[in-house]
Amino acid sequence: MTTVYLNGQYVPKEQAMIPVEDRGFIFGDGIYEVVRVINGRIHAWDGHAARMANGLETLRISMAGAESATLKAVCEKLVADNGLAAGEATVYLQVSRGAAPRTHHFPPAGTPTTVYAAASAFKPNFAMRDNGAKGITLADIRWARCDLKTVNLLGPVLARQAAQEAGAYEALMHRDGMFTEGAATNAFFVVKGVLRTHPLTNHILPGITRVDIVESIHELGLPFEERPVALAELPGVEEVFVCGTTTDVQPLVEIDGKPVGNGKPGPLTVKLKEALAKRLYGK
Ligand code: PDD
Repeated sequence: MTTVYLNGQYVPKEQAMIPVEDRGFIFGDGIYEVVRVINGRIHAWDGHAARMANGLETLRISMAGAESATLKAVCEKLVADNGLAAGEATVYLQVSRGAAPRTHHFPPAGTPTTVYAAASAFKPNFAMRDNGAKGITLADIRWARCDLKTVNLLGPVLARQAAQEAGAYEALMHRDGMFTEGAATNAFFVVKGVLRTHPLTNHILPGITRVDIVESIHELGLPFEERPVALAELPGVEEVFVCGTTTDVQPLVEIDGKPVGNGKPGPLTVKLKEALAKRLYGK
């Protein structure tokens, strides 16, 4: 039996209920996080908690019941109670603006938020990480606050569906001729031997894994620029990888049906994949 957390209580998943007027359901009015848990230890909790707090504050959703220490304890209890303390797991966390009669403007002050969390077993696809995967390119049709991890995910839903229908893993999205990020990942490129990724602006999510990668790049002394890659540069791109909490470092070896470089994961990608594994697993 799976136990989930809802508004201060641990309940069987089947019994967890939210009102039909919840603003997460009606408007997508909420913030979420996905954290990685390895042998009971949450990877990079402080970064996830800070991003969630920033999202809630920006959207003026109450932090009550969603404080970092509270949610960390919730994650740890869910992992333990669901028998996931050994091996790998993820925890999904979501805070919505709560339930109230439908009005576009905020509900009355004091309306309690809805705080939900659930843990699941997780099995990384090591073969795909080793061999590489296919990608597609797609227009980035999302809104202008992609830096907030809101539960409004229609852009990524449509992009991932397009990728899947093309037999690919990820969609690399571009806006005004520049690659922004993947549908649910940040993207790194190697052009003329230099690693490049989109800078932290409102057009990408500030990924927690991106922080690990940037730190690893500096530790390894690799050439690096936070400068977007143009769609027009794609034919000369030597390596591409995407990264995220459930994606790790995932090489893309074919994009829109054409091989990237020699069609195999490139050397800088492999180095960073190993560096991230060390941070996650300590080896
Ligand atoms: N996705 N960019 C987007 C648009 C994302 O949705 C994600 C994460 C990332 C990577 O962020 P992080 O390294 O913090 O996981 C980048 C999560 C995992 C998801 O939606 O399931």
